[in-house]
Amino acid sequence: MRLYFSALICLALGALSGASVAPERPLMVEPAPPVPLAGQTLYADHCASCHGDDLGGAVNWRTPNADGSRKPRPLNVLGTAWRRPDADLIAYTKLGSAGIFGDESPGSGAMPAFQGVLSDAEIGAVLDYIKSTWPEGVRAAQQRLNR
Ligand code: HEC
Repeated sequence: MRLYFSALICLALGALSGASVAPERPLMVEPAPPVPLAGQTLYADHCASCHGDDLGGAVNWRTPNADGSRKPRPLNVLGTAWRRPDADLIAYTKLGSAGIFGDESPGSGAMPAFQGVLSDAEIGAVLDYIKSTWPEGVRAAQQRLNR
């Protein structure tokens, strides 16, 4: 009985592998998968809902909301993020508005804290993606703030 079953399994496997060696289309070399754009994906998942798919921030971002809270600023070159050194960008992303400005600030709560949500490496990858959208000269200027 056991032998009979093994024979059946062999037959079934044979049929399966037989199907894969006779493809309907000629075999082609698969293109290499694209390099994973971790920072861009993380941005899309965690930041784009407020800062925009194009990093453009909220419409009329300079005008505060009715309750005094501030709107999401652009993170592209039209915003102010590039005028901040890395330490500030990291702190902002980790601590959010409440962590930066304190709970009583009108801007408080508008930007969520990502500490515990994203790892340090992930925050670095998101910020690298944001910086990659800035022109080279602006990237260099921001880099100088880190010294
Ligand atoms: C729920 C909406 C929301 C989400 C989601 C969000 N932000 Fe923000 N962010 C804001 C708001 C609002 C501000 C402006 C707050 C202020 O000025 O008080 C801001 C400000 C910032 C600033 C400071 C910009 C500057 O010009 O100084 C940075 C940097 C930033 N966000 C990064 C991120 C990153 C990175 C993510 C995703 C990991 C993210 N934000 C997700 C709402 C959001």
